[in-house]
Amino acid sequence: MSGKSVKLINDDGLRLDGRHADEIRPMKIEIGVLSRADGSCYLEWGRNKVLVGVFGPREVHPRRSQRADTAVIRYKYNMASFSTEDRARPGPSRRSIEISKVSREAFEPVIMAELFPKTAIDIFVEVLQADAGTRTAAINASSIALADAGIPMKGLVTSCAFGKVDGQIVLDLNKEEDNYGEADFPVAMTQDGEITLLQMDGNLTPDEIRKGFELVKKGCKEILEIQQAVLRKKFETPVEEPEVET
Ligand code: CDP
Repeated sequence: MSGKSVKLINDDGLRLDGRHADEIRPMKIEIGVLSRADGSCYLEWGRNKVLVGVFGPREVHPRRSQRADTAVIRYKYNMASFSTEDRARPGPSRRSIEISKVSREAFEPVIMAELFPKTAIDIFVEVLQADAGTRTAAINASSIALADAGIPMKGLVTSCAFGKVDGQIVLDLNKEEDNYGEADFPVAMTQDGEITLLQMDGNLTPDEIRKGFELVKKGCKEILEIQQAVLRKKFETPVEEPEVET
């Protein structure tokens, strides 16, 4: 959010990448890409590329981190050093620790952790290429990886941001919009519309937030459809049509 004056929406209402205000970037999902993980997902969203591995429920190390009544959910978000324009410093940063925390919390309401006391469910995120919206991309991918691992969940979590660009409320900011826009507001929600992550960078009026939420609900619904289609393709066994005697 530099506030620098760069024209991000043209006179036809189109953004630099050709999208309308209410459009998400194209999303591509592959499921089960890591053979050593219990569940995994590779997701591309615009120019973002993220890889997620899910492990567990499994034994907890160190033991003192165990909980007698529930599984411990651990979420680790990491940016590869080659994922950004300037080389990202390897290892945890304040930003990655914060993203890991809020993303874990985004899943806590849906993961049925109480079914697996004394275990851990680990979600490891590697951002391979970043172009704004990596936390939302990673949450969408983690949802798929958790389902791929067979972790019982009350439903999928979907995530998308809205923001303010050239004075307009738009869905799913890309890097230029994130850099030069006025606000960025990432949201995650359950498939019943319960909000599980909500953050804000920049300034927005209550009316702008209301408008943004309408856009985000639409975006999350589209993402949920993509997630469900991918899972259905992998797990739905085709029903064999009974042969009809003629
Ligand atoms: O990625 P997300 O929008 O969830 O988080 P952000 O902190 O708002 O970062 C926005 C974007 O800035 C990232 O997606 C990266 O493209 C870029 N960034 C970077 O180049 N170097 C960093 N150390 C952190 C972020």
